[in-house]
Amino acid sequence: MSISILGIESSCDETAASVCRDGVILSNIIASQQVHSRYGGVVPELASRAHLQNILPVLDQALLKADVSLTDINAVAFTQAPGLIGSLLVGAQVAKSLAFSMNIPLIAVHHMQAHVLANLIGGNENPESVPAFPFLCLTVSGGHTQIVVCNSPSQMKVIGETTDDAAGEAFDKSAKILGLPYPGGPLIDQYASSGDPLRFKFPEPQIPGLNFSFSGLKTAILYFIQNEKAKTPYFIENNLPDICASIQGRIVSILLNKLKKAATQTGIKDICLAGGVAANKRLRKSFEETGKSLGWKTFIPKMEYCTDNAAMISVTGYYKYLDQEFSPLSVTVTARASW
Ligand code: KG4
Ligand code: ZN
Repeated sequence: MSISILGIESSCDETAASVCRDGVILSNIIASQQVHSRYGGVVPELASRAHLQNILPVLDQALLKADVSLTDINAVAFTQAPGLIGSLLVGAQVAKSLAFSMNIPLIAVHHMQAHVLANLIGGNENPESVPAFPFLCLTVSGGHTQIVVCNSPSQMKVIGETTDDAAGEAFDKSAKILGLPYPGGPLIDQYASSGDPLRFKFPEPQIPGLNFSFSGLKTAILYFIQNEKAKTPYFIENNLPDICASIQGRIVSILLNKLKKAATQTGIKDICLAGGVAANKRLRKSFEETGKSLGWKTFIPKMEYCTDNAAMISVTGYYKYLDQEFSPLSVTVTARASW
């Protein structure tokens, strides 16, 4: 019997739904919320309201695209944590209502586990295209920066993480300093493509072990820009590609230096990226080059499975379904939850 899972993601500012059958993605629908860009960050109340408006049309489209009806669905998976409470609640309530009314299992998914398991998408069709266990994953998003050892879909251990800002925040806060709108990560990526990454030098923090820190870098960028603007008022406008390339280059080198250290310490050679920042072109390229020079087998999810999406939730739901890991309808959402 084939297993069809409906996945729902609403942890932050993307409303998303996906259907997977036996781990193969049949649909992956995302409604992004534009309302936040003028505020320089996600406004929780506006995010919840936008989720309420988007969730049912997104769900309809996901079923339509997958060419399945609700009666074909074996279980509903949803993001239970971490995220904005009001946003999480919208996805959770819809998932619970569907599970209750269809009398099918409900599956609560941790968002960070799902980012990692995005690397398994496509594995049932082409096993060579996905990492073998155990693998290492550098998960880089707007809220997290983690190096994870993944022993199986349900067994993961965080061996390094940020002690302050996440990599995505480092991108977004740097962009804000440069006067760019939220989310600034993709814009820094875009401007950096025509810039010189060696033009400006930013410090690499000396954090012991496999942990990260990005707050010192942010402060260094802020002071650098303030100083330069005091000397040359149009410093940013005149040097934007080089500034972006230099910031991006430093964030990427911080990430990859720790990942190299983790690979040496664990001896693991199947290594993946995950999370929104894994959409960054320079990170993807440098990661592939590093992997090639060190004999790693490297894996990066397709762009649409890096930034927040529901395909990763439906696939995680599929693995949890195989383990019969179901949640009661009384399960609650959680803003902060370690993985
Ligand atoms: O995983 P994600 O979509 O949401 C969270 O779970 O946080 O990650 C969003 C983060 C944002 O900080 C965004 O600026 C960053 O990913 N991001 C990028 C790029 N695309 C998204 N950062 C750098 N370069 C990109 N191309
Ligand atoms: Zn995410």
